[in-house]
Amino acid sequence: MMQMRDYPNIDFIVASVLRDWPAHKRFLDLSFANYEPVDLNILEELAAKIRSLAQDDIDDYVRSYRWTCGELNKEALYFKRSSRYRISSFDEAKRSIYSNADYMKSYMQGLLLSQLLWQNHAAAYLYYCNEYLPRFRTPFRYLEIGPGHGLFMSAAASLPDCIAAEGWDISPESIRQSRHALRVLGCGANVSVLERDVMASPPDNAPSFDAIAISEVLEHIEQPLAALKSLRQRLSPGGAFFINVPINSPAPDHIYLLRDVAEARGLVEEAGLNVLDLKLIPMTGLSLFEAEKQKATISCVFVAQ
Ligand SMILES: C[S@@+](CC[C@H](N)C(=O)[O-])C[C@H]1O[C@@H](n2cnc3c(N)ncnc32)[C@H](O)[C@@H]1O
Repeated sequence: MMQMRDYPNIDFIVASVLRDWPAHKRFLDLSFANYEPVDLNILEELAAKIRSLAQDDIDDYVRSYRWTCGELNKEALYFKRSSRYRISSFDEAKRSIYSNADYMKSYMQGLLLSQLLWQNHAAAYLYYCNEYLPRFRTPFRYLEIGPGHGLFMSAAASLPDCIAAEGWDISPESIRQSRHALRVLGCGANVSVLERDVMASPPDNAPSFDAIAISEVLEHIEQPLAALKSLRQRLSPGGAFFINVPINSPAPDHIYLLRDVAEARGLVEEAGLNVLDLKLIPMTGLSLFEAEKQKATISCVFVAQ
């Protein structure tokens, strides 16, 4: 187990969670059990960002995190009994979740903390920082679909070589939180977050991007293949996608179920993309083998072009 005193921001967030929810200790111990010091340094920076986004309100974010875990547990029970996600239409998710400001506020605040506290979310972020962003060594234009809490987008937008960054999201509350992250984390001037559905047809003069990130969004879409094909038209020659999609991942707004890694890979390849790298990250507490056997959540993280 890491020495907490070396990572004061992680320590602060973990202690804040355990003050409200002591029974979560075993989960957090498992989640932080296997990181190398070099990764803990990046997670410590992530924890510092989360603290500055939460400002004086960490307890509210902790309540949101606990509530989000509860909402996801309800969906996990439903999934276990029925082997399907509860809802299957985008309109239903839009009506009950994306347009519900109170729900989305708690949900995105909860996911802001899960980015650090859940093994599969944190490891996907580490992969993005360690493997994906360093590919862009000359000035680049960045697009992110569904930035939500804004942590991925602000990591890209704060790089000196990022000359323009655009985010598209359909939830007004996600847009508010993304903009808050970009502002508080001091991202450059040429940065915008637009209210836009990835399924909407692009305007004729739509720009192209060297980097396109879509993290934890494809499973929210009725036709993820069509979304990827349309985004492929926006990728500049030599550019690369970061695609993070979880399989067997019940959540209140997940509608498209991918049941195994082959299905996730098939989706990316059927969109005409070439997989350059694929990292599989099981949910907290399970090995990859156990997660595959139990049909539990695995984050599938692709770099593709
Ligand atoms: C689970 S959050 C993901 C946040 C962040 N990217 C991450 O990896 O944690 C999903 C986000 O995608 C947005 N979203 C869902 N469907 C979308 C669509 N069709 N077009 C654009 N954004 C969408 C939601 O509003 C939400 O902000």
